[in-house]
Amino acid sequence: MTMKKKDTLLILWVCRFDAVIHFAGLKAVGESVQKPLLYYNNNLIGTITLLEVMGAHGCKNLVFSSSATVYGWPKEVPCTEEFPLCAVNPYGRTKLFIEEICRDVYRSNSDWKIILLRYFNPVGAHPSGHIGEDPRGIPNNLMPFVQQVAVGRRPALTVFGNDYSTKDGTGVRDYIHIVDLSDGHVAALQKLFDGSNIGCGVYNLGTGKGTSVLEMVAAFEKASGKKIPLVMAGRRPGDAEIVYASTDKAEKELNWRAKYGIEEMCRDQWNWANKNPWGYGTPDSAN
Ligand code: UFG
Repeated sequence: MTMKKKDTLLILWVCRFDAVIHFAGLKAVGESVQKPLLYYNNNLIGTITLLEVMGAHGCKNLVFSSSATVYGWPKEVPCTEEFPLCAVNPYGRTKLFIEEICRDVYRSNSDWKIILLRYFNPVGAHPSGHIGEDPRGIPNNLMPFVQQVAVGRRPALTVFGNDYSTKDGTGVRDYIHIVDLSDGHVAALQKLFDGSNIGCGVYNLGTGKGTSVLEMVAAFEKASGKKIPLVMAGRRPGDAEIVYASTDKAEKELNWRAKYGIEEMCRDQWNWANKNPWGYGTPDSAN
């Protein structure tokens, strides 16, 4: 999503705000490699504009959507918030740079309270089945792709690599239900206002559990009753082998922990897919 300065100004002038949750940003890794300036322009300039306008209007409380991508290819797991940071593509660098910008903003003026939330792999949908993910074009991420195979929009899932040193050879990630992820934001907002000395704090939002691609596919097949045909392929460039979160800090300081497992993630994602096989579009508008 792109946001122009005049939009931001207008929103902040019309109302008074206690805090801002900044979710906006472009997020496709491959596209960021092709179009780095688009990513730097939109994600970085958009954030700088937002911070400037917030500062000018006396709103200095921010929750920002960062990403586990800032751990790069972690040398060990679980990833704790203290791990060294590195980015391996322009998208990842925008998240890392924004984190650094936020730390600098706080250092320059300690009135700011900023919480950086490092998302692991958000999946699932709202349990109502009315709100879910509907990427344009070919999905980059595992679960939107699996979902489109299940509803017959794509013939098979390509599994990127089955020769990793993991339980079944496929990549391992920390999938988190989007409802848990949303609750993490509420917990972060509460933290901003509970009198704690936050400064610019950072928290992982994950479950602390690693799940392989094949385990995730099996869970989705069980939830949907659909067979997901697989095509085994080589590793996707840039993919890490195993990434999952340490959740201790968020549990202790935000009093938040994920409630749902992969069974509920797949159940709710299938409910969304089954009710909306073409997402928010139609067979004609989808590609
Ligand atoms: N995978 C497949 N086939 C696909 C898509 C993905 O086998 O069609 C595999 C990947 O190789 C990986 C796993 O499924 O092992 C998860 O891949 P995703 O693309 O769903 O997620 P990533 O872990 O690569 O990336 C996600 C977000 C990034 C974020 C990162 C943080 O998409 O924005 O988590 O770790 F930066």
